[in-house]
Amino acid sequence: MHSLRHILKLSKRQSNPLLRYYSSENWDVVSNAEVKRFARDCMTSVGTKPEHADSLAEVLVQADYRGHYSHGLNRLDMYVQDIRTGITVSNKEPAVLKETPATAFVDGQNVLGPVVGDFCMNIAITKAKQSGVGWVVAKGSNHYGIAGHYAIKASDEGLLGMSFTNTSPLVVPTRAKKAILGTNPISLAAPGNHGDSFVLDMATSTAALGKIELHERKQLPIPNSWGVDAHGKMTNNPTDVLNGGGQMPLGGAEETSGYKGSGLGFLVEIFCGILSGSTYGPNIRRWKNTTTVANLGQCFIAVDPNSFMPGFEGRMSDLMGICRNQEPAEKDKDVLVAGDPERIHMKMCDDRGGIPYHPNQIQYATDLSEKLNVRPMATQTPK
Ligand SMILES: NC(=O)c1ccc[n+]([C@@H]2O[C@H](COP(=O)([O-])OP(=O)(O)OC[C@H]3O[C@@H](n4cnc5c(N)ncnc54)[C@H](O)[C@@H]3O)[C@@H](O)[C@H]2O)c1
Repeated sequence: MHSLRHILKLSKRQSNPLLRYYSSENWDVVSNAEVKRFARDCMTSVGTKPEHADSLAEVLVQADYRGHYSHGLNRLDMYVQDIRTGITVSNKEPAVLKETPATAFVDGQNVLGPVVGDFCMNIAITKAKQSGVGWVVAKGSNHYGIAGHYAIKASDEGLLGMSFTNTSPLVVPTRAKKAILGTNPISLAAPGNHGDSFVLDMATSTAALGKIELHERKQLPIPNSWGVDAHGKMTNNPTDVLNGGGQMPLGGAEETSGYKGSGLGFLVEIFCGILSGSTYGPNIRRWKNTTTVANLGQCFIAVDPNSFMPGFEGRMSDLMGICRNQEPAEKDKDVLVAGDPERIHMKMCDDRGGIPYHPNQIQYATDLSEKLNVRPMATQTPK
C-alpha cells in the first residue's frame, strides 16, 4: 500500500498538478534511447571520447526523464561548447591521487563532470561494500548535471548514496550584497523495500536560476525569497536579480531562516571546494564563462546500512509509508516524500512512450543537429 505501488496508483487516479507543470498533453515525445543517442552523437561530433559522451548522455536523459528539464537536453549545448573550445578535455581520465580503505582523493583532470562523477561514485560504492563507508572527494571536475544521478547509483546497490558539487557563485548569503555561493546541490538516496527509495535532490537556493530567467522573459514578477537586487534587498523584479543582484539561499530572508540555506550552501562547499582544494565560493568561474577552466570540487559518499542496525530498508519504507498515508491538507494533493514527484514524472513518460518535450526544446535540438551535422532527434506523437 505504501511505496511504489501507492505512487503509481496516485498518478493514475489524480490529475497531478506536477504533470501540468512539467509537461503538456500534446507535446511530442522522444524515447529515452533516442535522447541518449542524440546527445551522444552531438558530443562525439565535437571530439568527445565515445565513453565520455555516453556518461554525459546518460545523466542528461535521466534529468529529463525525472522531470528536471533545466538539467537535461536543455544544457547539451553548454557541454558541446566546453569540449569544442577545449576548456574541458576528453583525452584524459580521472585519477586517484591518494586513498585509504574508506576514502579517495581524485583529480578529475578537467574531463566532463559526469565522467568524474561516475568514476568517484563507483569507487565510493566499492569502498562502502568493503569498509562500510566510501567517501570520495574530487578536484578538477566540471558541471555534472543532477546530483541525484550519483546518489541513486549507490542506493541501487542497497547503500545510502550522497552527492554534492560546488557551482558558480549565484547565491547571496544572508545580510550580504554579493553572490559568493553557488546553488550547491545536495542529494541523498536511501533504499526502502521492493525498489522503493527516498531521493532528496535539491539546490540550496530557493529557486533555480532558470525559473528567474523564465519570469524575466515573460515579464512576470518573481515570488518573495527568490532573489535580491544589487543592494542585497529582496526584490520581485527578475531583471534586478539578473543584473547585479543574486539568488537567495533556501529559506529566503533572515526572518524566514535563509541563513540555514546559506549554512547548507557552506556545508556543500566545505565537502567540495575546501576539502578538495579546487576553486571555491566566489573564485569559481562565473556562470556561462567558457574561457576559464572550471576546476569544480565534488563529493560522493556511500554508506552500507548493514554496518549499523539490520532492517534499514524496512524502517525506511515504514517511515515513507507513514508520510504518504497522511491525510492531505488539500484534498487533491497527496502527501509525497522526496523522489515521488520524479517517480510520477517517469511513470507519465513510460505511459506516453517517451519523454515529452516543449516544441521549443525540439526546435533547439533540430538547430543543434544542423549545426553539428548530426542525425536529428526522432520524435513521436504521445500514446
Ligand atoms: N550541477 C549543478 O550545478 C546543479 C545546481 C543546482 C541544482 N542542480 C540540480 O537541479 C535539480 C533541481 O533542483 P531543485 O532544487 O530545483 O529541485 P526541486 O525543488 O524540484 O525538488 C527538490 C526535492 O524536493 C522533492 N520534492 C518536490 N516536491 C515535493 C513534495 N511536494 N513533497 C515532497 N518532496 C518533494 C523532490 O523529490 C526533490 O528531491 C536537481 O536535480 C539538482 O541536483 C544541479
